[in-house]
Amino acid sequence: MHDGHHGALLDDLARRRGVVMLVGGPDTGKSTLARDLLAAVVAAGKTAAYVDADIDQTIVGPPTCTGLKFVRDESDLSSLSQPDQLHFVGAISPDGVVLQQVVATAALVDAARDRVDLVVVDTTSAIAGVAGQTLKYHKMELCRPDIVIGLERGAELEPVVGMLRRFFSAQVDTASVDPDVRPANPETRRAHRAKAFAAAFAEPLQRWRVRSTVFAPTLPEGLDLGRLDGVLVGLQDGSGACLGLGVLEHDEGVLRVVTNQGDGMRGLRLGSMRLDLATFDVHRVRLGEVMFGL
Ligand SMILES: Nc1ncnc2c1ncn2[C@@H]1O[C@H](COP(=O)(O)OP(=O)(O)OP(=O)(O)O)[C@@H](O)[C@H]1O
Ligand SMILES: [Mg+2]
Repeated sequence: MHDGHHGALLDDLARRRGVVMLVGGPDTGKSTLARDLLAAVVAAGKTAAYVDADIDQTIVGPPTCTGLKFVRDESDLSSLSQPDQLHFVGAISPDGVVLQQVVATAALVDAARDRVDLVVVDTTSAIAGVAGQTLKYHKMELCRPDIVIGLERGAELEPVVGMLRRFFSAQVDTASVDPDVRPANPETRRAHRAKAFAAAFAEPLQRWRVRSTVFAPTLPEGLDLGRLDGVLVGLQDGSGACLGLGVLEHDEGVLRVVTNQGDGMRGLRLGSMRLDLATFDVHRVRLGEVMFGL
């Protein structure tokens, strides 16, 4: 039995099979509920998988990637940051990368579905406006959750919940936000993100020379490679999986990728940001602008 604000909800969800998706605005307690649910599933002697689709304030793996962690026992619960699988999105907000974000989430849900009792999907806090609603609509379409739990503060979820109920057959329930939830200020978020990037770029770092033909999307002919300096990349293994992150470095006409995950890399996916490896500050870039000056 669980007490606390969401005790009855946790007891109910932990008994289910299938895919549960948690949605809600910033600081509504999604990740805390996800963790509590994983713990409840394990305590009940069942297995779970955590799909962390938050690409900024990540729990599984580094920012800019969705992450999958199988949770079969207590030790998995205490090592959530070490992913079983990653999928590269290349930004810390879904604006402009809705396609990548939806596919990256659905790919991990598919990898986990049917291999555990319950898949728990923790989503980004984008819920409003055309971008947030489009994201949630297509996530719903591809991830096919059995149940959606909306963590609601006031009436902010009404539009998106109404939409999901109208267009999909999954059960969509709302729960109120725990009054003890403390909003994280922007500085706390920045610090959490910087720490996660620091872990992803922990020494020993290597510098691998890269040819201009290894990129997705493909580089336009005659591109000034200097424009790629500082751009974040996802290291791909050749079977669709992301091995980890890298940052491009351009020096006297030579392009290198700085990474600690270079073994087995076959190709590099270009991200939509530059990452400063000294400060872990991020700067959004538009790839079209980088590659074509558009
Ligand atoms: N039931 C609770 N009791 C006390 N504190 C809580 C509870 N749930 C969450 N918190 C705290 O509130 C803060 C925000 O919670 P959490 O990170 O789970 O929210 P979130 O919706 O995942 O936020 P984000 O928008 O960053 O993804 C955290 O510091 C967490 O420790
Ligand atoms: Mg969260």
